[in-house]
Amino acid sequence: MLRTIDDARFWDRIARKYATDPIKDLTGYERSIERTRSFLGNSDTVLEIGCGTGTTALALAPFVSRIVATDVSSEMIAIAREKAVAQSCQNAEFSVATAERAPGSDGSYDAVLGFNILHLIADRPSTLARIHRLLKPNGLFISKTPCLSEMNPLIRYAVPVAQFFGKAPFVSFFTATELDAEIAGAGFTTIVRERHGSGRKDARIFVVARKSAA
Ligand SMILES: C[S@@+](CC[C@H](N)C(=O)[O-])C[C@H]1O[C@@H](n2cnc3c(N)ncnc32)[C@H](O)[C@@H]1O
Repeated sequence: MLRTIDDARFWDRIARKYATDPIKDLTGYERSIERTRSFLGNSDTVLEIGCGTGTTALALAPFVSRIVATDVSSEMIAIAREKAVAQSCQNAEFSVATAERAPGSDGSYDAVLGFNILHLIADRPSTLARIHRLLKPNGLFISKTPCLSEMNPLIRYAVPVAQFFGKAPFVSFFTATELDAEIAGAGFTTIVRERHGSGRKDARIFVVARKSAA
């Protein structure tokens, strides 16, 4: 619990800069948005965890009925709300919540989205189990996740140093195969596994996983 509070402070501190940083691989990001959109319907109720400054929620809001976008950082959520007002978006709600305790009642969402967030969660099995419960039967969990174990091995040394100086949040190291196993362990069937980056090697895996109807 203490770690989550520390993480919230970290993300609060960098939120205004994060909001103005350009998206690193815009082409890859647009591919992910387009692909995500293809799985959503205009009557869908959608939850996003770790929504940051709301860019993705606001891009997808015109194509769904309602999107509830959440983040542990109140500063990120404040920026997302400002952007929603600036864009006159009526069907996106932003609220402060950890992914581990994402809001909603069981079986209430058609889709749950999580972009660049699963590697920041320590207890992924229970978070994935919660997402599974929140989804309707046949509901979709759509995620894009940096698999740090597939990146330059030096990152294993760089991250603890950055954390020591307060320059990096908690992160988990895993491969796409290990993440796959965790998603399956929560009861999902993965139906899409793609890499959208425009570079030669993309360590971020885009996954669409379905909750079975039973
Ligand atoms: C790398 S940013 C990604 C933001 C956005 N999803 C995107 O793709 O641009 C990670 C976000 O997750 C949030 N976050 C970190 N740990 C979290 C947690 N345990 N629960 C909810 N949000 C969390 C941070 O505040 C931050 O806004």
